[in-house]
Amino acid sequence: MSKSINDVQEFWNLNPCGLPSGYSDQDKKSVFEQIERDRYLKQARIPYYADFASFKGKKVLEVGCGIGTDGSQFAKNGAVYTGVDLTEAGIRISRERFSIMGLKGEFVQINAEKLPFSNDSFDHVYSFGVIHHSEDPQKIVDEIRRVLKPGGTCTVMLYNRTSFYYLIEVQVMRKLFFKFCDKERLWKAVFPLFGKGLSQRFESFRIKLSKMKAVKRYPNELEWVSMNTDDVFCPIARVYSAGEAKRLFRDFRDFRTSVWFIDRENWLLWFSLVRFLPKPLINLLESRTGWFRMIQASKQR
Ligand SMILES: C[S@@+](CC[C@H](N)C(=O)[O-])C[C@H]1O[C@@H](n2cnc3c(N)ncnc32)[C@H](O)[C@@H]1O
Repeated sequence: MSKSINDVQEFWNLNPCGLPSGYSDQDKKSVFEQIERDRYLKQARIPYYADFASFKGKKVLEVGCGIGTDGSQFAKNGAVYTGVDLTEAGIRISRERFSIMGLKGEFVQINAEKLPFSNDSFDHVYSFGVIHHSEDPQKIVDEIRRVLKPGGTCTVMLYNRTSFYYLIEVQVMRKLFFKFCDKERLWKAVFPLFGKGLSQRFESFRIKLSKMKAVKRYPNELEWVSMNTDDVFCPIARVYSAGEAKRLFRDFRDFRTSVWFIDRENWLLWFSLVRFLPKPLINLLESRTGWFRMIQASKQR
């Protein structure tokens, strides 16, 4: 079941990241505003890491702009913004959003493993939750370096291998769950203990997982990680330790990495265990073993 860039494109084209269902029938301006509020409430450190206000008048490239949520913050703050994405849907919705919000930006639908820009063109490259979904992440990182001006900077988010989520939920809890996910009667008794909303969410996850299990009873490691990040049917997702991330960015200077984020809405782990811990311990867990690995680096002058 080895997956290609075409599978990646098809999946994200059908599932634009963060887009609510019924998007096209609603007042789009308020949908975009709501998406923005939700994103920066739930993933509150994005503005801190992205540092949107620092790039006024600078040329910023976003690799994997999705539906343009972070991109619009760069543009609002005066950056000369270009967004690229693999999917027609992402580019179309981002253009729509910029036009509705009265923002300026360029968009290109492209596989970022080969960027259509000349060497040394951008002051800053930003990419949030994208590179680990691609067929050849190293090619994207090399392309980012090529298009950055000497001294240019990048901020990238990759999933963290040394996270509580990966080590405990993905490798232990979900493997156990996968083993028994087709025991419908058992889960029909257990899920309601979590309340109606969660019970429905867990049940729809269980159904998807059972469907996957019917075609892939023994997923390999890459398949298993891919099934347990964004969606059961997500074709490719990888995780990176600090060392692996450093190797990926070995040709950059000033490499820094730090981690954050516990998903309080979707993970079994949060509902069954983590939320009962004292807040200072949760904060410590998040800063040491968070799911998002941020990378900041620059190109040699
Ligand atoms: C999880 S979404 C993240 C989108 C956005 N950065 C955000 O944070 O909402 C992943 C995005 O990466 C894009 N993507 C994956 N591989 C890509 C590639 N090789 N080149 C360009 N975009 C890619 C997908 O089309 C999708 O929009």
